Amino acid sequence: MPLDERIRVAPHDFRVLTGDRPTGPLHLGHYFGTLRNRVELQRRGVDMFVIVADYQVLTDRDVADRLVETVDGLLLDYLAAGLDPDRATIFAHSAVPALNQLLLPFLSLVSVPELQRNPTVKDEIAHSRQSAVSGLMFTYPVHQAADILFCKGNLVPVGQDQMPHIEVTRTVARRFNERYGPVFPVPEGLLSDAPVLAGTDGRKMSKSRGNAIALSATPDETARLIRAATTDADRHITYEPERRPGVSGLVHLAALCLGRDPQDVAAEIGNAGAAALKRTVTEAVNEFLAPMRERRAAYAKDPGFVRDVLRTGNARACEMADQTLREVREAMGTVY
Ligand code: TRP
Repeated sequence: MPLDERIRVAPHDFRVLTGDRPTGPLHLGHYFGTLRNRVELQRRGVDMFVIVADYQVLTDRDVADRLVETVDGLLLDYLAAGLDPDRATIFAHSAVPALNQLLLPFLSLVSVPELQRNPTVKDEIAHSRQSAVSGLMFTYPVHQAADILFCKGNLVPVGQDQMPHIEVTRTVARRFNERYGPVFPVPEGLLSDAPVLAGTDGRKMSKSRGNAIALSATPDETARLIRAATTDADRHITYEPERRPGVSGLVHLAALCLGRDPQDVAAEIGNAGAAALKRTVTEAVNEFLAPMRERRAAYAKDPGFVRDVLRTGNARACEMADQTLREVREAMGTVY
């Protein structure tokens, strides 16, 4: 049975583990790429763990500056997007010692050439601004296996770039079970079917490209970003992603926010030109984000509550990680 179907029939057979590096505000690309999917899985009753990967963030910066503020912002984004702390366990992996301890036996189960072959890590190293590759950079996919396996997560909704890490996780789980006995599930990656969202310059929406619309942006900031978006000289608005990435990216964004077909949105604007397109997009995005902004503002007024969400999640994750580590040590024969 296809994975999607199995989730629909038996949501309680699944435990989802997913999460983000706290590198800055989440944007619409995150929302349509993964957040929306998480909220939907939560609604269907899947047990959900969401990790704030605050150690992994050290892979891509020399100093993790202002991490506390970034983590608080990420929590607000999660809550604004609809993650429900009563149903989802939101936690930071630096706060779960037993999770991190799993990294040690896991590292013994993969070879250095296997780590060197990971295409996502290779790509990140190629684009890294750091002068030398850290040991953490090479091994973070194994750390990510610990993120997933500490709670025996068996379903990991991710983007395509994360699939090599899911493969590492599956390898680690299989090898551990073969060597020491059955402890871990072999998790499955769940690819989101949302196509890549373009930013305001027609390229993939990404914070580092400066083309992203943050979920926390104000209506004015949003309007300004869209006004400055790249279009082309052809007045007639169409949806042709290959030929007209700028215009089509905007059409797509409006269509996603309106829940409509991009071809129809483009046809409706027709000969009215780029200015009309931008007005449509701005209105659609601002209307779409309004309830999220409202929720975000309400939570932002209550920082104590937001911290409690994380503390409660950390405590729940610790309980689960301690239990798994006990099983691991029993299987390995290291209980003294
Ligand atoms: N690597 C993920 C990213 O950069 C974040 C992450 C850390 C993650 N641990 C995870 C995702 C475990 C899924 C499962 O976005």
